[in-house]
Amino acid sequence: MSVEIEVNGIKHKIDAEPETSLLEILRDDLGLTGTKYGCGESQCGACTVLMNGFPIHSCVTQLSDAADSKIVTIEGIEKNGHLHAVQQAFIDEGAMQCGYCVSGMIMAAVGMLNRNPNPNDEEILMRMSGNICRCGSYPRMMAAIKRASRTIRGVK
Ligand code: FES
Ligand code: FES
Repeated sequence: MSVEIEVNGIKHKIDAEPETSLLEILRDDLGLTGTKYGCGESQCGACTVLMNGFPIHSCVTQLSDAADSKIVTIEGIEKNGHLHAVQQAFIDEGAMQCGYCVSGMIMAAVGMLNRNPNPNDEEILMRMSGNICRCGSYPRMMAAIKRASRTIRGVK
């Protein structure tokens, strides 16, 4: 089966079985290894990417479901040499230990802030609940997301 997907603004024709996971296509076919394999069962969020602007778990998204979609991965959010506000905030807050969950965390946060640049704590916890950090960096991640929210809104 041949499926067209757009990844980080570039169109690709992918020849693969329709049930192949989007995660496999991103990592193995397109070499975009910033998106991580954690559980493979939609339980951890390490594989989070944006599909048509919404965060999804690419490990359980079949290629056929991604047909004609716009996919954005962690490699696609930096613009003209400038990190996305969420990437910069995670660095500034030191919001990581091993880092394995971080690209998924950042993509989930980007998806949330695209929809609502000023979420309250409750919304942040709810929107980020599909992403697990085994290192327990949650307090710093919360601080990073709030910092990114302020940056995006131009508030000090
Ligand atoms: S690898 Fe996809 S949710 Fe864990
Ligand atoms: S920083 Fe290690 S799993 Fe989150």
